Amino acid sequence: MISYTKVFQATAFSSSSPKEVEILKEYLFCINADGLIEKVVGPEADDYKYLLELYQGTENFHRLADGQYLLPGFIDLHVHAPQWAQSGTALDLPLYDWLNTYTFPLESKFSDIQFAKDIYEGVVTTLLANGTTTALYFATIHKEASLLLAKICAEKGQRGLVGKVVMDDPEQTPENYRDADTQTALADTEEFILAVKELAKSVKQGVYPVITPRFIPSCTDEALKGLGELAAKYDTHIQSHCSESDWAHTYVQDRFNKNDAFALHDFGLLGDKSVMAHCNFLNDDDAELFANTGTAVSHCPISNAYFANSVIPIAHLHAKGVEIGLGSDISGGFSPSLFDNTRQAVISSRMLDDGVNPSLPAEKRGVPNSRITINEAFYFATAGGGESLSLPIGRLAENYAWDVQIIDTTIASAKLPIYSTNEDLFDVFQKIMYLARPENIREVWVQGEKVHSRM
Ligand code: GUN
Ligand code: FE
Repeated sequence: MISYTKVFQATAFSSSSPKEVEILKEYLFCINADGLIEKVVGPEADDYKYLLELYQGTENFHRLADGQYLLPGFIDLHVHAPQWAQSGTALDLPLYDWLNTYTFPLESKFSDIQFAKDIYEGVVTTLLANGTTTALYFATIHKEASLLLAKICAEKGQRGLVGKVVMDDPEQTPENYRDADTQTALADTEEFILAVKELAKSVKQGVYPVITPRFIPSCTDEALKGLGELAAKYDTHIQSHCSESDWAHTYVQDRFNKNDAFALHDFGLLGDKSVMAHCNFLNDDDAELFANTGTAVSHCPISNAYFANSVIPIAHLHAKGVEIGLGSDISGGFSPSLFDNTRQAVISSRMLDDGVNPSLPAEKRGVPNSRITINEAFYFATAGGGESLSLPIGRLAENYAWDVQIIDTTIASAKLPIYSTNEDLFDVFQKIMYLARPENIREVWVQGEKVHSRM
């Protein structure tokens, strides 16, 4: 009796722990009508042959071709969707000036729904083509355009977690890009939450509203408090920026006489469904607070090289028990690819470990034990992201969503250097992680549905 809607036969890579990648050679992945992985069957299992005979030759059976491999879809924990319009540009100023010179003027234009539509369709399509099956988005302050972004995720099949941004403090925001007042900011947020929850009723892969104070400097105390209360009332995800740069970190210390992490906590903004971007300047007490509340760090390594004045001690935070995922931070980070960000995460961690100033003696140059491996970066981009969002995504395992990317290592324009038919599979994994380009991402599936294919 055929009961699975799809069965895939493939060699796959999935994190079994932060440091270990499991190689599932020629496994069967049995998908049910809800788009979940119901059963994972290895060649040694009793029912492998039986299932193969049952499904092979049916339209529900998909065998990956030679040179093709499965990875979990990536989970981008920090994307500013409107900033896609300026990706690759505007990288010459520090954070505060960058926001006021380029970013607030750009985001203010999203009051125009047609302008918003073009850019939001572009960014969702681009992220899917880069293997990102789930994204945690900042939209803008505009309720209608933010809802449009959620609808575009829903239509294109991406799992979108979307926030209407709140910025209501006249001291720190321009007149033409600010919530009308605190009450309006909170009322618009509540209406946005209800509208997205309504939309979600008909979206297989899920779409979620997210409480989104831009960062403490943009928001009044009343707004931060009100947003904490709304998050509790509707049990939503929460996102913001925390201790990103010297300026942002010091601003909060000056205003509250405490670190960003504790200030956010006072407003009810840290919890199991909270994801804070950057967090470069967390001290050990802040990290402990994150670990105790279940708050995750979205590590944005490319962006950090431009705006964070530092390399985040990501290995140290992880060792302290903080949940970690990876973010592109478009457009602070120029790349829509989490492959690019995994690579930068490894590179930056090695530069922190060794240090960068050659005029210092080797033993004084770096911060020992700061390195992460490509396995850990892959974990952050997949399973770590899923844990950060408290969703069953990011692993190729039973009861997880069928969110995958099919990587083709053989295509002519982007052939990976694999010259032996029995190349060590861990080497294949590493070559994919370091060398794959968007051309190699042949198909992308979310919740059991194909949402992207490149012929
Ligand atoms: N802090 C406040 N807003 C932003 C933003 O848009 N990008 C980054 N990188 N940091 C921020
Ligand atoms: Fe950001």
